[in-house]
Amino acid sequence: MEQLRGLILSGGKGTRLRPITHTSAKQLVPVANKPVLFYGIEAMAAAGIKEIGIIIAPETGDEIKAVAGDGSQFGVEITYILQDEPLGLAHAVLTAEPFLRDAPFVMYLGDNLLQGGIAELVDAFRANEPEALILLTPVPDPENYGVAELNGHNTVKRLVEKPQEPATDLALVGVYMFTPQIHQAARAIEPSARGELEITDAIQHLVDEGRRVEPHIVSGWWKDTGRLEDMLEANRLILENVEQQIDGELIESQVEGRVIVEAGARLIRSTVRGPAIIGAGATLTDCYVGPYTAIAEGCAIERAEVEHSILLAGSSVCGLDGRMESSLLGRNVAIRRDDRQPRAYRFMVGDNSEIGIL
Ligand code: DAU
Repeated sequence: MEQLRGLILSGGKGTRLRPITHTSAKQLVPVANKPVLFYGIEAMAAAGIKEIGIIIAPETGDEIKAVAGDGSQFGVEITYILQDEPLGLAHAVLTAEPFLRDAPFVMYLGDNLLQGGIAELVDAFRANEPEALILLTPVPDPENYGVAELNGHNTVKRLVEKPQEPATDLALVGVYMFTPQIHQAARAIEPSARGELEITDAIQHLVDEGRRVEPHIVSGWWKDTGRLEDMLEANRLILENVEQQIDGELIESQVEGRVIVEAGARLIRSTVRGPAIIGAGATLTDCYVGPYTAIAEGCAIERAEVEHSILLAGSSVCGLDGRMESSLLGRNVAIRRDDRQPRAYRFMVGDNSEIGIL
């Protein structure tokens, strides 16, 4: 089989993570202090894919280019492909056709996270040579995904995008492998009720033509990070696998368990219970940081308890006497409170905001 190429979809609108994604791309929201998008690029690099096209939108493309660069930091070559409007995943494939040409390719949705990478799947695709290989996993809310119905184990009967009454609980995971046959299928279909050219419909077209579409049930976890709860869960799953590494400074402070304290971070009279990550240059003073928390670079936390939360770069939390939990703070958010009634707080706050609590 010809050399596989990679296609990562990082266009789209990102409405579900608003207000966080008003000012930045949803694929750049960090999980364990690393942009979601990087996990996809790294999975491709680990599977031996060298040439990766990244679909970008006019609004957020420059930011993605600035962060992911030419790919040299991952040992791959990145080509950026501008999709003028988010007209669907199959439309993104057609937009990428000049880059993909007649190469087989792996398509990875830029806001998806898949445990264990894709190397094994790439091997199965190469060995069995189907026209398409799709990944499926059972989910509790199939109506929010593409849903598959199978004939026995190894062939696909029907794929439907976000059905109101799902026939099964098998959701399409956002990683697909295709031969160039997908281009004619994408051209053959019509826009869906939501006005998009659905990749689900293009794959169904392959099935209807009698082409081989191989389903694989994923064995590890998978997350579409499009919503706050999923983002927190992805953060939890990734942090579950970190090892302790302390490069910052601990002053009258303790860390317990698997905690990463990056260079230049300072803990002053504070306790961090892992798994957690404290980004470069962050300062924690008189704080408790609990499990499953990712604090990005340059954050400042003072007299507060934070747990199971994600703080983006440059945010600060000061004087919360209760505990902040299951929260996502955008960049440069400031939360401060002066009186001392204990309580619990839950926030999802966009970039550059300030919250004062009386
Ligand atoms: O996450 C898995 C699901 O992803 C599948 O189960 C569905 O079958 C599939 O249609 C897709 O559903 P979503 O509605 O969640 O897709 P979303 O609009 O979030 O787009 C996925 C990624 O692709 C995201 O990073 C944005 C990007 N994108 C999206 C569109 C519509 C583009 O680059 N261009 C586009 O035109």
